[in-house]
Amino acid sequence: MRLVATEHLNTGDRIGRDIVTSGDGLLLLRAGMRISDSFQRSLRRAGITAVWIDDELSAGIEPLEMLREETRHRAVSAIRSAFQDVSQSLVQGGALPADTIRKMTAVAELIGRDIADNAQSALALNDLANADSYTMKHSLAVTALGLALGIRAMRRYGWTDHRGARRFDQVEQRLSQLGVGLLLHDIGKLAVPPEILHKPGPLTDDEWTAMRAHSMLGFQMLKGTGGISALARSVVRSHHERWDGTGYPDRKAGVAIHQFARIATVADVFDALTSERPYSAAEPAHRAFEYVVSRAGRDFDPDIVDVFRSSVAPYPPGTGVVLSDGSRGLVKEVRPAFVECPIVRIVVDPSGRSIPPREVDLSTTPELTIVSEDVAPLAPLAV
Ligand SMILES: [Fe+2]
Repeated sequence: MRLVATEHLNTGDRIGRDIVTSGDGLLLLRAGMRISDSFQRSLRRAGITAVWIDDELSAGIEPLEMLREETRHRAVSAIRSAFQDVSQSLVQGGALPADTIRKMTAVAELIGRDIADNAQSALALNDLANADSYTMKHSLAVTALGLALGIRAMRRYGWTDHRGARRFDQVEQRLSQLGVGLLLHDIGKLAVPPEILHKPGPLTDDEWTAMRAHSMLGFQMLKGTGGISALARSVVRSHHERWDGTGYPDRKAGVAIHQFARIATVADVFDALTSERPYSAAEPAHRAFEYVVSRAGRDFDPDIVDVFRSSVAPYPPGTGVVLSDGSRGLVKEVRPAFVECPIVRIVVDPSGRSIPPREVDLSTTPELTIVSEDVAPLAPLAV
């Protein structure tokens, strides 16, 4: 399978995965169907910018699965019910029911187990595109990526206790609290007026102030809730702090920001950049990757960015790429030790001719690098 921009789809292309609308999660087109002119129009209307296509060129290439289907379903329904409970308690002025917190903790542990089982694979968030609505998808993606970074960061650096000692114990309990914090990190957005939240243009200063209040509002919402730990709440409160002290709400800097919030920030920014939002189109993974790396030491903790660099695939399997010699192909496989040097299936040679597929391992061919994502449609095989 390969990911093809909607504008480059051809009539007759076979859809590789079910296509679900990002707003309400409705099934738009089923895997196996063929693209027609009218399908293309409905994809554009639904704001879907890229589609997984199954063809001869991409035979044997599979999108990276970060979470099992069942985990994804359970997580989305747990996030949805927590958000409903919070909406209700906002109206009635009560706290979040203890049962909701228990469910969130169970889901955070489930996601953590999926991620830990997959620790050997590099991460790509594109397999989460099937979760419904931006907040659901975003909460799930930030949790999955944040936990993946958390597991690796704990392994490498451990955590620092209040006496300043570095520790490697109690990691599992702490990670499940990180998961709960990540699942709920944007829950304060329920208290932001929807016309600001979904505004399809730039926000005014006043609107930004209202938007920025969400992290503190979320923290306060969870205050009286039994079962929510201080660790989880610090993720909610501090996920918009920046390493150099320019974030909000407390303008904390460096290690004064809780380690879990520093992890959440990286996951939050990466996912926001690679997602369609009301006011901007999704960036390809490699551009968001470069952005995160370029902001190490300014926006982000350099140690966490280091973990990120060895965890996330800037060019996930199925992405079309242009190589430094002008040849073009598809990313076949990404290995965690070499996330920036995947195995590429070359199908077009440097002179622009289609050739029978040839695989090169960029980790062993230093003279070849990826220079950009291939947005042009690949020519059909001339053999
Ligand atoms: Fe946020």
